[in-house]
Amino acid sequence: MSATAAVRVAERVKPTVDTERGHRIRLRLLYVLAVVTNLAIFVYGFDYYKLSAMDRPFSPKHHMLRPSGPIGLYLGFMGVALFIGIFLYPIRKHWAWLGQIGKTRHWLDIHVLMGLTAPFIIAFHSTLKFRGIAGMAFWIMFAVSASGVVGRYLYAQIPRRVTTVELSMKELQELQESLSRELATQRLLPEADLKDLLRMPNAQQVARLPIPIALIYMMILDVVRMFGVARLRRHALSVGEYLTTLFGFFPTQHRELEKAIHAAAEEAALSKRLLFLSRSQKVFHLWHVVHKPFSYAFAVLALLHIGLQFVLGYF
Ligand code: HEM
Repeated sequence: MSATAAVRVAERVKPTVDTERGHRIRLRLLYVLAVVTNLAIFVYGFDYYKLSAMDRPFSPKHHMLRPSGPIGLYLGFMGVALFIGIFLYPIRKHWAWLGQIGKTRHWLDIHVLMGLTAPFIIAFHSTLKFRGIAGMAFWIMFAVSASGVVGRYLYAQIPRRVTTVELSMKELQELQESLSRELATQRLLPEADLKDLLRMPNAQQVARLPIPIALIYMMILDVVRMFGVARLRRHALSVGEYLTTLFGFFPTQHRELEKAIHAAAEEAALSKRLLFLSRSQKVFHLWHVVHKPFSYAFAVLALLHIGLQFVLGYF
């Protein structure tokens, strides 16, 4: 094994300082904020939103919630801020000075958060009525956002170092073999269950699968892996721990066991990613071809809608 691959294996298997903790906490707080904000608007506006267009002007909440009312307008501004935030991620790829700020994956996390929040905020801004240019922009945004979920999954399937040609395919295989050896020496996990977890479909079969089936198959393997990991963990659990770990789906307090399980799960995930790598790269490429133009179509329609409101004197 090459020295670089050996270092990478050591980095993966040994516990290291968690440099991502701060980002994870901030991200979770932002998700909580997004969910609470949307829920608050939904609860406050529920009796208004369910009225027909004819009845709405008679509601006491109409002057607040209509798109040009104080809350409606504020939601529109929030939508514009999210819109700008979402497009900072692709813009960052072209602006060198912006590219130097922060990590790309953190920017993508924020892009995803904003991309998931924006359709809800815009839906409330439009009072759940989607007509004209704004309605078209909304549905395109909704489709882009939904397709983003698939894109995010694919993004995670392609090792970044492979895409940047830093880590060759050979090194990835070395990494995988080394993890297998590590697990064999640990002898903490029952061999039969370990084999089940690491069993993968045949490479030729995978290569022949139509792309949509390959995508679904990858997702199924991820779910199967979760169950395989839980089964491995259950071997070491007491009755009480069965409950506290929800039948092995959550980690235990046993550090050595968790380390071994983590290494096994890593290896299974890596094998799957390797096996499907060429398929995921192909789908991800196709996905970009769809996500990008639709995003720009949405941007043009959204800008047209905002421009029209200027002309009509709402600002
Ligand atoms: C209003 C919604 C959204 C818009 C307008 C939007 C727009 C964009 C644009 C313009 C790109 C750059 C495409 C390229 O460089 O080829 C992009 C990339 C991406 N977006 Fe979105 N997006 C939205 C929502 C989402 C959501 C909700 C997710 C995930 C759940 C997501 C995941 C991604 C991923 C994974 C990438 C590719 C990252 C990469 O290859 O560097 N997007 N998005």
